[in-house]
Amino acid sequence: MSRRILVTGGAGFIGSHVADAFLAVGDAVTVVDDFSSGRRENVPGGVEMVEADVRAPQVLQRIASGEFDVICHLAAQIDVRKSVADPVDDAARNILASLGLLEAMRQSPRRARLVFSSTGGAVYGDFITPPAAEPEPKDPESPYGIAKLSVEYYMAYYARVHGLDTIALRYANVYGPRQDPHGEAGVVAIFCQRILGGQALTVFGDGAQTRDYVFVGDVAAANVCAASAAVPAARKLDSRAFNIGTGVPTSVNALAAAIQQAAGSSVPVEFGAARPGEQQRSWVSIAKAREGLGWSPAVSLNDGLQMTYRWFAERARAAAPTDARPRMRAHA
Ligand SMILES: NC(=O)c1ccc[n+]([C@@H]2O[C@H](COP(=O)([O-])OP(=O)(O)OC[C@H]3O[C@@H](n4cnc5c(N)ncnc54)[C@H](O)[C@@H]3O)[C@@H](O)[C@H]2O)c1
Repeated sequence: MSRRILVTGGAGFIGSHVADAFLAVGDAVTVVDDFSSGRRENVPGGVEMVEADVRAPQVLQRIASGEFDVICHLAAQIDVRKSVADPVDDAARNILASLGLLEAMRQSPRRARLVFSSTGGAVYGDFITPPAAEPEPKDPESPYGIAKLSVEYYMAYYARVHGLDTIALRYANVYGPRQDPHGEAGVVAIFCQRILGGQALTVFGDGAQTRDYVFVGDVAAANVCAASAAVPAARKLDSRAFNIGTGVPTSVNALAAAIQQAAGSSVPVEFGAARPGEQQRSWVSIAKAREGLGWSPAVSLNDGLQMTYRWFAERARAAAPTDARPRMRAHA
């Protein structure tokens, strides 16, 4: 029998792929999204679409009634800079909204599993030696990271005290089709768009800073694995947290070269001033997810960048006026 899956934020970049992945294994999917940053064209056909804020009573009542087997909670304010500019709004959207879901789950007559989209890029501090493993000290440097970590603490509390079934997935830098350039890994989307426009790629600092770039299809697969994995009971913060990345560091210089290769392009690469406070080295250990969720990334960086670039090229072609199309094609 197919399960009932609720995907919050399912009109967004990652959430729409999560919805796709559950549909592909035969589950019934409901998407809740307020379209604050999501797009209608991202929502896959075949889902029940509820246009609402996750805090809306109609959403919370359905969760409290026990309608869903699994709740993948991706709806969030994801812009780190916005969280710095307005931490109160960030906390409302990222902490209080999640707390509302936990409270609704607590009232439910049956146990659903909550799979929460957390972050590996923003909860571990700058002071640990990568790769970051789950028990490493947490030292978030933005209200966004603090909010994600706070929700994880609440989840551990609700699991321990109220017996809720919760899992946190701490994503590294996610990239892929449908990405907007404003996300944590927006650099891939930005580079693709600049190559399509024939513009130079700008690298801040010397480009040696590293990140862990994971393909969005692999992140969606991690949600599907987490939905049914048999995992030990949650006792404290890290017990049911899993890093989702590749375990491989990639420098910005290497990323720029790989995208150029994927695109068959050779636009110039320019170096700008280093951004103050930018983390220099960040990648995560994925050993726990491999073992505990039976998940591992399947898409190589080169293949993932090719799929991503192709998607941006296709979108640019579709948006271009007819007389501009031959020129766009030359870049693809
Ligand atoms: N992109 C990354 O690299 C990355 C890394 C780590 C964690 N994450 C987390 O993954 C999740 C998805 O991120 P994304 O990159 O797909 O972002 P996104 O902005 O594309 O998706 C978020 C979606 O949530 C919706 N939304 C926001 N607030 C809402 C609310 N109150 N009610 C209903 N819908 C709401 C938006 O309209 C959007 O469709 C987020 O929780 C984010 O923090 C992303």
